[in-house]
Amino acid sequence: MRPAGAIAGKVLDEMAAYVKPGLTTRQLDHFAAERIKSYDAKSAFLGYHGYPCHTCLSVNDEVVHGLASERELRFGDIVSIDIGVAYKGFIGDTARTVVVGGCSLAAQRLLEVTEQSLYLGIAQAKPGNRVVDVSVAVQQFVEQNGFSVVREFVGHGVGRSMHEEPQVPNFDEGKKNSPKLKPGMTIAIEPMVNAGRPEVKILKDGWTVVTRDGSLSAHFEHTVLVTDNEPEILTWVKPRFE
Ligand code: MF3
Ligand code: CO
Ligand code: CO
Repeated sequence: MRPAGAIAGKVLDEMAAYVKPGLTTRQLDHFAAERIKSYDAKSAFLGYHGYPCHTCLSVNDEVVHGLASERELRFGDIVSIDIGVAYKGFIGDTARTVVVGGCSLAAQRLLEVTEQSLYLGIAQAKPGNRVVDVSVAVQQFVEQNGFSVVREFVGHGVGRSMHEEPQVPNFDEGKKNSPKLKPGMTIAIEPMVNAGRPEVKILKDGWTVVTRDGSLSAHFEHTVLVTDNEPEILTWVKPRFE
C-alpha cells in the first residue's frame, strides 16, 4: 500500500503544479495518464464501472466524478483532482482541490476548511476509535464553518480493491454498528464539502455530480493507514518548493 499511495500522491502533486488557465481538463487527464505510466502504475478509475477517464476532474459546482472534456480551465475556477492508481496489486486513492491561477476569498476559505476537516478526520483514525469518530470530526468542523457535507458519497476502505469495507461517511451515522478501527486497516478519508446546501444531483452524462444549488464544492482525500500510534498518511508527499 505504501508504494501505491506514494505514486498516487506524487501524480496528484504533479497535476496540481500543471494546472493553469487555458488548459483543458482533457489535457490535464492526458498529463495524468503519462505521469501514472511513468511510475509503471495504472489508473484505478479507467474502466471502473465503465468510467471513461484516467482521473476525476470536477470544476466549481462539480462535486466529484467530473469527466475530462474540451472545457478550458479559467482563472478563478477551482478544480477538484481525484486520482487512484493501481501498483503491484494495491490501490492508492487521493484528491485535492486546487485554484486555477487565483480565486475568490470565499473559494479559498472553502478549500481551507475542507482540507482542515480531512486532517481532523485523519487524527481520529486510531485504534480504540470507531469510523464514526472520523465522520463526526469532519462534519462538526465543516458545519461550524457554515459549509455542508455531502451525504450521497462517502470514504471507504481501500486495499487490493478501490472500494472496500468499511464505508467512511463524512456525517454522523451514530455509534451503534460503527466499525472499530484497528492497526493495519487502510481507509480513504475524503470530505466532499459544499459551500451551500448539501444536496447533489448527477448530470445526464451519468457521472458528473454537481451541487443542486449551484454552490462551489471542494474535495480532499488521503489513503490512511491505521497504526498502533499515529495514523500514517500513505498519499502524503513532501511539498515541493521551486
Ligand atoms: N476516487 C473515487 C473515490 O475517491 C472513486 C472514483 S470512481 C470512478 O472513491 F469511477 F469515478 F473513477
Ligand atoms: Co478518490
Ligand atoms: Co476514495
